[in-house]
Amino acid sequence: MKKHNGDDVASAGALPREEAGPTATPPGIRARAGGFADMFERSTGGALTPLNVVIDRLEGPVRAVIEGRPTLMLGTNSYLGLNFEASCVEAAAAALRDFGAGSTASRVASGNQRLHVDLERAVADLYGRSDAIVFSTGFMANLGTIGGLVREGDAICLDAHCHASIFDACRLSGAKVATFRHNDAADLARIMAESGIAPSRTLVVAEGLYSVLGDVADLRAITAVTHASGAVLLVDEAHSLGLFGDRSRGVAEDQGVEDLVDVIVGTFSKSVGVVGGFCVTESKAFRCLRFAARAYLYTASLPPPVVAAARRGIEVIATERERRDKAWVNAGHIHRGLSGLGMPPAAAPGPVGAIKMPGIKAGLEMWRTLLHGGVYVNMLIPPATPAGEVVLRYSVSAAHEPEDIDFALRVFREASRDCGIGGAPSAGVAAALYRR
Ligand SMILES: Cc1ncc(COP(=O)(O)O)c(C=O)c1O
Repeated sequence: MKKHNGDDVASAGALPREEAGPTATPPGIRARAGGFADMFERSTGGALTPLNVVIDRLEGPVRAVIEGRPTLMLGTNSYLGLNFEASCVEAAAAALRDFGAGSTASRVASGNQRLHVDLERAVADLYGRSDAIVFSTGFMANLGTIGGLVREGDAICLDAHCHASIFDACRLSGAKVATFRHNDAADLARIMAESGIAPSRTLVVAEGLYSVLGDVADLRAITAVTHASGAVLLVDEAHSLGLFGDRSRGVAEDQGVEDLVDVIVGTFSKSVGVVGGFCVTESKAFRCLRFAARAYLYTASLPPPVVAAARRGIEVIATERERRDKAWVNAGHIHRGLSGLGMPPAAAPGPVGAIKMPGIKAGLEMWRTLLHGGVYVNMLIPPATPAGEVVLRYSVSAAHEPEDIDFALRVFREASRDCGIGGAPSAGVAAALYRR
């Protein structure tokens, strides 16, 4: 199985491989664990990294205090700022008072409260589908849904840029797994034809908006293949819910192909501002998921305050447009600014963007310089990224003001000068690295 996100994901998916000669005795578990830690210390010099940075305080969705400094959060996934929206916080506080802090059990034991059922109804209604199932995280939504749908003897074809949770779900399912080239429907058709497994026993998995490079799926082309063949299609709209489509349901809605998608998976941890995941389906055949999804059956249900805030968040997404519009204005603003600085994001303007770095050392230096300048972004390295890329990833929010984006661009400009990254397209080697 060719893969990136699912390959040897150690802790945060960022640890380097151990170097061992061809004849070396494989180290034991304890030695290996120590080896990883030592290697990581060595490669970072014990300095501040994305793995050990601590947010001391939050003062809203995009303002934090880190190492005593006020910091602009430009890498939170809180695309709509709903984690601090007053009505969501109030809903959580009321549920905390009325239902307590935790559910203390699985949905099928005593963890199925009215709040969970109402949240599922709200999600199913948003998508105009008959059923929704809520999971405790987006990761578990993929584990439970994919694991509940397929079994040994089936096939799964997934996009090579899919999230680690999808890779892990596929690996656990026991099905025959193959990846198709990123966003390449012709390659999907090719691997389906070569799999030797009937399309009716094949699950195809793609995302709406890919979160590492920030590019949008070509779901028109992918649904053309799955529809013609009769394969089942699952689309993960984790990063697109709330931002794409007439009713903010995601990329499948935006591209007019929602009816050709059998199952939609999503998360509450991004635009909805809390934690949890879901899948929505139409067909009766998929209702069995509630009895087959182990990541649903064998874990505690979401805590009441989270469920209440998620439900209010879904309501806001279904009824309000201003936040979404503002997030898109911010997305255009930062994309133009970074392009002007010689650091063009890897994809068209969108809620999440990625700037390719020439390597881990240079990327870490740039990341630290931005943080010291008061701007927090994410740094992603292999195996969490495709094709060995090192990227600085930012996300915009409706909670950013235009002055915040201007401030971030000023800090980017200074960091790019200090680190020798970016600059005018003619500025030499560094600039050549950004050519797409
Ligand atoms: C496409 C995709 N699916 C699932 C997840 C997991 O979601 P969660 O963090 O809510 O578990 C992520 C997280 O980034 C994601 O990008």
